[in-house]
Amino acid sequence: MDWIKNEILKGREILKKDWDLTEKVESDLSKGIKRPPFEKPFEQGSFLIELPARENLKPFDISLWEAIFNRRSKRKYTEDFLNIDELAFLLLATNGVKKITPNVVFKTVPSGGAMHPIETYLIINRVKDLERKDITKGLYRYLPIEHKLLLEKSYYEGMIEDFDDALNNQFWGAAAYFVWTAIPYRMEYKYTVVSHKMIAIEAGHICQNLYLAVQAIGCGTCGIAAYSQKKMYKFLGIDGNDEFTIYCAPIGKVNQ
Ligand SMILES: Cc1cc2nc3c(=O)[nH]c(=O)nc-3n(C[C@H](O)[C@H](O)[C@H](O)COP(=O)(O)O)c2cc1C
Repeated sequence: MDWIKNEILKGREILKKDWDLTEKVESDLSKGIKRPPFEKPFEQGSFLIELPARENLKPFDISLWEAIFNRRSKRKYTEDFLNIDELAFLLLATNGVKKITPNVVFKTVPSGGAMHPIETYLIINRVKDLERKDITKGLYRYLPIEHKLLLEKSYYEGMIEDFDDALNNQFWGAAAYFVWTAIPYRMEYKYTVVSHKMIAIEAGHICQNLYLAVQAIGCGTCGIAAYSQKKMYKFLGIDGNDEFTIYCAPIGKVNQ
């Protein structure tokens, strides 16, 4: 019982971190240490998929009014495919780069100090590229700066089942599934001990944009926090310390 109470209090402390602490603690930024990269690095020569640029997408329009008042969590999807334009739109809506300079990156979502500590992984199940061919199933990572998909893990027999296991059986036959990870140092570099509250807030900003954006393409989503931390690290191939999963969301076409 004491242990539970203690854990609850520790959890509350993270959300109550006093901003004044940032004045008392010297950050790596103030020490003049080189800033971490804006996105998780990847090996040259990796398999990449080009995504349609924003300028070439036909805007998927519904009214903001409709998007806000029709938003629901959806857990039942049809067998339909997403197309690559729709996928590119969802990635732009949740982690898209609008402007980049050597010291700052601005995205479609806000971020404390524009540090943008969150990466997007995606499991592709049913996505087609209208001009070329269906995009192979597998685990990918979105590269927001390049606006490309990086293949992280090729599809293998049982991949969706392994992922579903990490999701505590909440895959629900989705066409694609976003998994957001935090690279905490990107925020700690500037905001040290108050970073963790901000990271959690930012995951919410990202997922809310997804909730609104999916409605413009006849899709549904659902924020997923009840997944298995450890199984998800193993599935993604991340260490769970310098990078850890924070939130997930399925995407699939829905019957209107
Ligand atoms: C932070 C967060 C975590 C959630 N995790 C799950 C989850 O793991 N599984 C699930 O079925 N729904 C999950 N949901 C969806 C909620 O159950 C849903 O938002 C709530 O029932 C209200 O329904 P509505 O979104 O349709 O308004 C989550 C929602 C949020 C905001």
